[in-house]
Amino acid sequence: MRYELTKELETGNALIDKEHRELLKAVNDLLDACGKGEGRSSVQKTGAFLSNYVKTHFAHEEQLQVKNGYPGYTSHKAFHEKYKKDLNDVVEKIPLSDASISDLAALNNQIGVLVAHIKFEDKKLGQFLQKN
Ligand SMILES: [Fe+2]
Repeated sequence: MRYELTKELETGNALIDKEHRELLKAVNDLLDACGKGEGRSSVQKTGAFLSNYVKTHFAHEEQLQVKNGYPGYTSHKAFHEKYKKDLNDVVEKIPLSDASISDLAALNNQIGVLVAHIKFEDKKLGQFLQKN
């Protein structure tokens, strides 16, 4: 399967949507690599990319929220902080175990959490930004 920024996931904010596309592209690259039997070498690389990209992307979302007085800022930021830590924990374990199937499953699980966050919380943010 491939992740795609469907209408359902679009926030309507150009910067946020562009960065979400980049994130999903990195995930797809990882899945493609796994399909070609390259999973072990690329899971670590993609995991590290995601971990870094997510930090920059979350910071951009938070800047937009502060600038526009978003009422859901505190809980949205709390999610970001927890997510960065959880993703980092998953990614940090990869080199030790040489990208096992369980690493891949854990990473995949984190992506699922991120997609759900986009679908509900970022979408809500996008709607707010369009009105304000
Ligand atoms: Fe977010």
